Amino acid sequence: MSVSITRRFALVLFAATVVAAALSVPSAAAQERTVNDGVFTAEQATRGRAAYRAQCAACHATNLFGGEMAPGLKGSGFTGGWSGATLWELADFTNATMPQDAPGRLSAQELNDIIAYILRENDYPAGSDELAIDLANQGDPIRIE
Ligand code: HEC
Repeated sequence: MSVSITRRFALVLFAATVVAAALSVPSAAAQERTVNDGVFTAEQATRGRAAYRAQCAACHATNLFGGEMAPGLKGSGFTGGWSGATLWELADFTNATMPQDAPGRLSAQELNDIIAYILRENDYPAGSDELAIDLANQGDPIRIE
């Protein structure tokens, strides 16, 4: 009698473990964030606007639509081109090549703030935590979509 209760208990435990393992699969996938998850703050984007105007607007235009000097950083032509990439990849590219006349000049803070501003200008939502991409460490991806 007591043996069968123990066995039944073990079976229930086993079943609970299987269910927990099954449930952990979708929750692990849900950990990958996208630019639609509020990955920067409104204040950060406003700081980024000032940095963008000082360092990027001469070529990409104040309204981000670009021109003869450089392509636009706003609209589906831009977001579509980066769709599927991560924000880390965008930050790494930007840090390595922009501003095109003086690459590598941006501080980590300016880089994050400017990307926050570009995201806001592309109508992605602000959230409660600042974007803090670390170029030395890719970390959990934030997917562009
Ligand atoms: C001197 C002109 C110039 C300045 C200043 C400049 N850019 Fe650019 N940018 C370009 C040109 C030209 C391209 C296209 C060639 C390329 O992709 O390397 C470009 C491309 C880009 C792209 C890729 C666009 C795409 O469609 O994939 C990003 C992102 C970008 N710039 C961000 C910035 C940011 C952020 C700043 C300010 C920190 C900045 N740029 C400053 C000239 C400039």
